[in-house]
Amino acid sequence: MKHIALVFGTRPEAIKMCPLALELESRAHEFRTTVIVTGQHRQMLRQVLDVFGVAPDFDLDIMREQQTLFDITERTVSGMRALLSQLRPDVLLVHGDTTTAFAAALAAFYLEIPVGHVEAGLRTYNIKSPYPEEFNRQAIDSVSSYHFAPTDSARNNLLREGKRADTIFVTGNTAIDALRTTVRADYSHPDLDWAADSRLVMLTAHRRENLGESMRVIFRAVLRVVRESPDIKVIYPVHLNPAVGSAARDILGAHPRIRLIEPLGALDFHNFLARAHLILTDSGGIQEEAPSLGKPVLVLRDTTERPEGISAGTLLLAGTDEACVYERFTRLLCDDALYASMSRASNPYGDGFASRAIADALA
Ligand code: UD1
Ligand code: UDP
Repeated sequence: MKHIALVFGTRPEAIKMCPLALELESRAHEFRTTVIVTGQHRQMLRQVLDVFGVAPDFDLDIMREQQTLFDITERTVSGMRALLSQLRPDVLLVHGDTTTAFAAALAAFYLEIPVGHVEAGLRTYNIKSPYPEEFNRQAIDSVSSYHFAPTDSARNNLLREGKRADTIFVTGNTAIDALRTTVRADYSHPDLDWAADSRLVMLTAHRRENLGESMRVIFRAVLRVVRESPDIKVIYPVHLNPAVGSAARDILGAHPRIRLIEPLGALDFHNFLARAHLILTDSGGIQEEAPSLGKPVLVLRDTTERPEGISAGTLLLAGTDEACVYERFTRLLCDDALYASMSRASNPYGDGFASRAIADALA
């Protein structure tokens, strides 16, 4: 029987790894499964574990207030060194492009434990955007023995970089596995009742390269549009990074049609997305979820590693420049033809069975 260890540490990794952990655990005759969390996020990770009912076997508990990349890397490498030396799994699965994933893959590589990379092959080829994620994902793919690519375009990136075809498995994205179980027609919430008389805009922002002035610029553009558009209300579940919270409160906190709330659990958040008119975000995961839900997204970034959402017509890059964000946001609110063309549901990331495909490949 193969021993598969999974490691993750942040909210988005957890949302996409819990369905896989549950799939592997349900196949106990094929796999021994060990779930490790680094705790790079504390409260936001716990929210996801609770929703999925996943109980980690080990928690490195590394999070610190306003942690640096050094803090996360050092604590993860040393914690994973100790754990992996004891456990010696047949494969360590890491996810995506966080520093948890990079540092855990590095520790496994040093211990000569094969790494399987879930969500492999995403690229912008701009090492500064997103930062440090583009470095992390390239570095992880260079030490991985197995690449679980969500789409053909991710597979093609890996092939172009010289990865062997028999190490790459196109599986879809496990983000969609989660959506299959969370969105409900009869869902209700007091914040959705508050917004029921308006077009609901969901906003999220947290990217490290946007912290500081870039984020303030984005928020100022959003505020201008909200002031000029009496029929919209904005709900913004604010990331727990204190640098994000202070900018959000300073610029958006006082407007009566903008509600800043605590991060939502995945079940709640997915249902808020399903109810939204449109989404403004710099998040990676939300760019994957929106096409399935048929919700237009203005991506608050200069690049994206998710070209599938652009091809599907769901995503529009809005950049991080005040004039550009203002112009694109206003256009999407006023131009019905553009809105209609961006709100068609599609499934570029698969039909919600990626975890099963990954487990089959591992078997
Ligand atoms: C991390 C990932 C990023 C991912 C994002 C998802 C890296 C370098 N960054 O960025 O790729 O898109 O998670 O959200 O891996 N905090 C809390 N409680 C929490 C979570 C965060 O208090 O549950 C606060 C802490 O002060 C922490 C800070 O937020 O120090 C920043 O967290 P960190 O994981 O370093 O960066 P993120 O911006 O969340
Ligand atoms: N999400 C959530 N609650 C929130 C905001 C986002 O559960 O309040 C989910 C969202 O549906 C997606 C994931 O968190 O699955 C995205 O996480 P984030 O934007 O923090 O990270 P990224 O995807 O950019 O790495």
